[in-house]
Amino acid sequence: MSNVLITGGGGFIGLALAESIAARGDIAVAFDVAFPVNRTPSPRLQFVRGDVTDTAGVIAAVRKYDIHRVIHAAAIVGIAPSAEMATTVIRVNVEGSINVFEAARIHGVSRVIHMSSEEVYGEYATPIVDEGSPTFPQMPYGATKLATEHFSRAWRNMYGLEVINLRIACVYGPRLPRARIPKILVDAVAAQQELHLPEGGDSPMDHTYVDDIVAGTLAALDHPTHPFDVYNLGTGSAPTVFDVVAVLKEIVPTARISVGPGEIKHPGGYAMPRKGALNSQRAANVFGYRPRFDLRAGLSAYLASVKRETG
Ligand SMILES: NC(=O)c1ccc[n+]([C@@H]2O[C@H](COP(=O)([O-])OP(=O)(O)OC[C@H]3O[C@@H](n4cnc5c(N)ncnc54)[C@H](O)[C@@H]3O)[C@@H](O)[C@H]2O)c1
Repeated sequence: MSNVLITGGGGFIGLALAESIAARGDIAVAFDVAFPVNRTPSPRLQFVRGDVTDTAGVIAAVRKYDIHRVIHAAAIVGIAPSAEMATTVIRVNVEGSINVFEAARIHGVSRVIHMSSEEVYGEYATPIVDEGSPTFPQMPYGATKLATEHFSRAWRNMYGLEVINLRIACVYGPRLPRARIPKILVDAVAAQQELHLPEGGDSPMDHTYVDDIVAGTLAALDHPTHPFDVYNLGTGSAPTVFDVVAVLKEIVPTARISVGPGEIKHPGGYAMPRKGALNSQRAANVFGYRPRFDLRAGLSAYLASVKRETG
């Protein structure tokens, strides 16, 4: 049994991770500035309110719960917030990460998993990218994720702390909090509403179902030794928004959703760099990562969960 701190453990991916860790018999300590209101703690799943920018608070939590391993998922996520409050995002995403590394170092934590992002690649140089592809983030969010990867190497070099960076794809599934693809389309289908998106149909993206990211993250957490400190986690394909709409219409033939051509623009009008698919062969070879959900299976599961939630 192992005590695992999950920063950002009240969020979309962090809470899914915390629940899986508790369900398999480890102790999950979810650390976040906010939690969903209807969550009750259990002996295996603790909720600790705290802020990663508070160095003493992070160290105290790691010490109090005698943490063995950390999954660092706390961040201010998304392109638009990172553009509108860049200094705050740097403080939370980069300084907060350094606080987590420091607390882990001081307490002798054996491994930290940092939930990095495919945003580190910026404009994809090729339709499918691997860990050796150029990293050229074009917005502050991706820059904070890449900076954190670099700081993780500094903490390894200076102190021997093991930090594994997982560059995860565009994750979707139950409780996805952001109004983006595929959430806005799935919500419209679940509510039987008509929705036409005027543009964005041509944008490709590696949409990965949250259960696959949870399974891959836990496999990376548990793997005895890592020959690399960075891995992609995605599906290896990059359906366009046209494809997402088409698959949702296959699942629900009466769905009244459509999208126009062109590239997606972020809220605020920022052009989205051209994306593509993540090659996750390295994660497959080292720790057996195998995504189980193709787009149709993932969208079906997501839609079913939204329908259950909304009655
Ligand atoms: N969802 C995706 O598609 C995606 C893709 C690539 C990478 N990621 C990364 O995965 C991680 C989790 O993302 P998510 O989609 O679950 O987002 P999320 O917004 O649901 O979760 C992030 C959590 O961090 C918490 N948080 C923010 N500031 C904090 C602070 N100062 N102290 C403590 N907690 C704080 C938030 O309250 C939130 O619960 C993030 O690091 C994100 O960068 C997500």
